[in-house]
Amino acid sequence: MAENRNETGRLAPPRHIAIIMDGNGRWATRRGLPRTAGHKAGAETFRNIATYCKNIGVKYLTVYAFSTENWKRSETEVSAIMALLKKYLLEAVDTMERDHIRLHFFGDMTPIAPELRVLARETDEITEHLSKDDFQANVCLNYGGRDEILRAARRFAEDCAAGKRRPEELDEAAFSGYLDSAGIPDPELMIRPSGEQRLSNFLLWQCAYSEFYYTDVLWPDFDEAELDKAIAAYHARDRRFGGVKK
Ligand code: FPP
Repeated sequence: MAENRNETGRLAPPRHIAIIMDGNGRWATRRGLPRTAGHKAGAETFRNIATYCKNIGVKYLTVYAFSTENWKRSETEVSAIMALLKKYLLEAVDTMERDHIRLHFFGDMTPIAPELRVLARETDEITEHLSKDDFQANVCLNYGGRDEILRAARRFAEDCAAGKRRPEELDEAAFSGYLDSAGIPDPELMIRPSGEQRLSNFLLWQCAYSEFYYTDVLWPDFDEAELDKAIAAYHARDRRFGGVKK
């Protein structure tokens, strides 16, 4: 069983939960609404679930907001997602210090609009001033697991070329330090709503030993009770990390 009781003897939630926020489009289509309405509802769900995670003692929540492949969508849809992110970041700048919420981005921010990048830098600065013990949300933006690994490998190679590192000293811990998730423990639980059962290039390195939880519920309908179910399923898992049961 996935162990870990907290000081009160209750089962502690996973320290790090990752979520593929899937099903926004279908949620909207089923209601005769444009897909963008699904993303709007999905952003609200993110807010609720992040608050709930913080309240129950989850330390990190990492969400897939926009993948390196999502640029293939219509301009209307891409702009709507970016506008939601901007709205969310503007709010975050005003509230994260008060609410003790750290915000961090995974992904290659280079092709992201300058105004969003400026806001992301602002939230990074606020995060720097918050305690490392505070709840942290990681938003994956223009993110792909393979792209993250490639960027990390490139940076390591650059450090070798500059004489700062030697190839033979590279091990898993050192390589992890080059990833967007540097310093953050791997997610114990990975959740994908909407009935799809694949990883879609999300956190490929970090999910090596994550427990996967799938549900047919679409992301905009995913609520606190659904998260409780996912955590209960996680607690019922037998995590062996390649070993045998003691
Ligand atoms: C996947 O559902 C969802 C996305 C690609 C976008 C997710 C973005 C948000 C929830 C908004 C902004 C986020 C934050 C953190 C404020 P889909 O469109 O693939 O759904 P479908 O499979 O039903 O078409």
